Amino acid sequence: MQSIYTKVTDAMNFFEGNDPTELAKQYQTPLYVCNERILRRQCRNLKEMVTYPNFVVDYSAKANTNLAFLQIVRSEGLEVDAMSPGEIFVEKQAGFTSKEIFYICNNVSKEEMQYAIQEGVLVSVDSLSQLEQFGQLAPGHEVAVRFNPGVGAGHHEKVVTAGKKTKFGIDAECIPQVKERLEKYRLRLVGINQHIGSLFMTGDSFIQSIDSLFEIALQFPELDFIDMGGGFGIPYKKEEGEAPLDISELGKALDKKLYAFAERYGRMVKFRIEPGRYISAESNVLLGQVHSIKTNHGKKFVGCDLGFNVLVRPVMYDSYHGVEVYRPGEATANENDLDENQKELVNIVGNICESGDILAKDRLLPPIQEGDILGVLDAGAYGFTMSSNYNCRLRPAEILIREDGSVVLTRRREQLEDLIKDLIPLSE
Ligand code: LLP
Repeated sequence: MQSIYTKVTDAMNFFEGNDPTELAKQYQTPLYVCNERILRRQCRNLKEMVTYPNFVVDYSAKANTNLAFLQIVRSEGLEVDAMSPGEIFVEKQAGFTSKEIFYICNNVSKEEMQYAIQEGVLVSVDSLSQLEQFGQLAPGHEVAVRFNPGVGAGHHEKVVTAGKKTKFGIDAECIPQVKERLEKYRLRLVGINQHIGSLFMTGDSFIQSIDSLFEIALQFPELDFIDMGGGFGIPYKKEEGEAPLDISELGKALDKKLYAFAERYGRMVKFRIEPGRYISAESNVLLGQVHSIKTNHGKKFVGCDLGFNVLVRPVMYDSYHGVEVYRPGEATANENDLDENQKELVNIVGNICESGDILAKDRLLPPIQEGDILGVLDAGAYGFTMSSNYNCRLRPAEILIREDGSVVLTRRREQLEDLIKDLIPLSE
């Protein structure tokens, strides 16, 4: 490979000695590439963030539900949350037991709730009406309740999941009604949970929201656990030197809070967090190939096979993902250090029939050629899980680079037949 622009993956040794252009050739593009070492590192960072002994990290699987990925997460001793029967099913396939799964649902039918109950999974409800529904389905059972601490945070208003404007959680003002329903159906409230939103880079709002959650917890002296939610951010602008969330600083602040609360509460109650992005985002690079380059009215477009069917985040939230460039061929001088004058301002676009299909806007990159392989960084969270078959495009394959550098296929690329496998044509 000719290294054209590979700074971030070089620094992380992301490909563990594999040549991304060869991986692209062998497995074709688009291709999600996962690095096992980085995934394990992220799991451990969180497990070790506090000294408080009764602390559980639930991986929020909505970010990435690849089976091999989940198996690795489990082998690191993490538990999981689920948001749908489908996630419960997949998590069980990955080896998680019912007790290791926490179903945090929102506006679900009786049938869905019943599925979780039958599967022996603890359910968290987030409205009085869903608590009522749970009570009718499973009187006498254990249950958890999601509260809205009144504080939200997140990278985009679409992912702020607490505070005054969102659909999630029960307002603390409704505690008397919650108690009434618990009593009515003889339910035991074993846990309370919250999730303020996705992607904070400083711990302030998280720490602030915990205070409100703890005040709520004091009104329920019999809890087994308090779940503080996820949302821990990762730096998407690594090329520009964006600093990571200081997990050890946050850990220190959190630790103090946990011990102090345990003292107020009178026992070492269990605390949980449920991050998705922090665990999964940096473990994946998405590979695509450039098929066309053109200039339209002075704007340069690099056209590739990474449409928003493969990675929707840039289109859905205006999210930034770093892009690297790898060129098939004999190794030559590294162009990482081209000065700004030699770089070009380009728009990287996909192959979907919408003008909004833009992966990266106005990026300064070394000159790209047709046939180059692009590497989209930090694609492991909400990448494959939000992919679709829009335009009848096939969902990509996924591979895993093991810790010894070997590569295994963990998801086959879809075939054309997959597009019609559930369709029923008219008989005439
Ligand atoms: N717990 C609950 C109840 C959640 O709703 C979520 C995410 C998480 C935990 C994990 O949040 P994380 O640690 O990953 O920030 N698709 C968006 C993010 C949506 C997050 C939805 N809920 C994105 O691509 O940025």
